[in-house]
Amino acid sequence: SEQKLEYINKHIGVYPDFPKKGILFRDIFGALTDATACQYLKDVLLEHVRKTNPDIDLIVGLESRGFLFNLMLAAELGVGCAPIRKKGKLPGECVSVEYTLEYGSDIFEMQKTAIKPGQKVLIIDDLLATGGSLSAAIELVRKAGGEVVQCLVVMELAFLDGRKKLDADIHSLLKY
Ligand code: PRP
Ligand code: MG
Repeated sequence: SEQKLEYINKHIGVYPDFPKKGILFRDIFGALTDATACQYLKDVLLEHVRKTNPDIDLIVGLESRGFLFNLMLAAELGVGCAPIRKKGKLPGECVSVEYTLEYGSDIFEMQKTAIKPGQKVLIIDDLLATGGSLSAAIELVRKAGGEVVQCLVVMELAFLDGRKKLDADIHSLLKY
């Protein structure tokens, strides 16, 4: 699994000054064009969840890059999945939270019916940077009645210390 992570890491794109000057952008999509990297990503994510949280009820993915992982994991684990989306995209009654991230601010929403009271939720995304997005996601899941058992990301920009503002169990596969 260390070798798989090393392989994945080598295939993630790295772009200086995107989308703004001073940001070193790590592009998960760069890894996904490689068939082996896709397979390995699935393997290491699944292995981690099976080992640490085998009894989750629901996977919640963050728009948009979190969506790459939530259905895949849910189908493999035999649970459901739900989206957190940017404002105005989801029908029906929603809970919403404003958040700031490395390069801007936005509003996240989740459908009130997405989570049954007390369900154990795993939140998934590609990247933890400042922690603004995950912090909002944690708040949303709790507002909607779920219990956040873990937030799982592929990459963590550890130098930004985003996990400091997150009041939940956080796990990242790759740290920078
Ligand atoms: C990026 C990334 C994470 C978030 C991390 O998403 O995919 O979701 O930023 O940043 P933070 O820890 O500072 O909140 P972005 O909002 O750019 O949107 P996208 O996934 O739709 O590309
Ligand atoms: Mg994102």
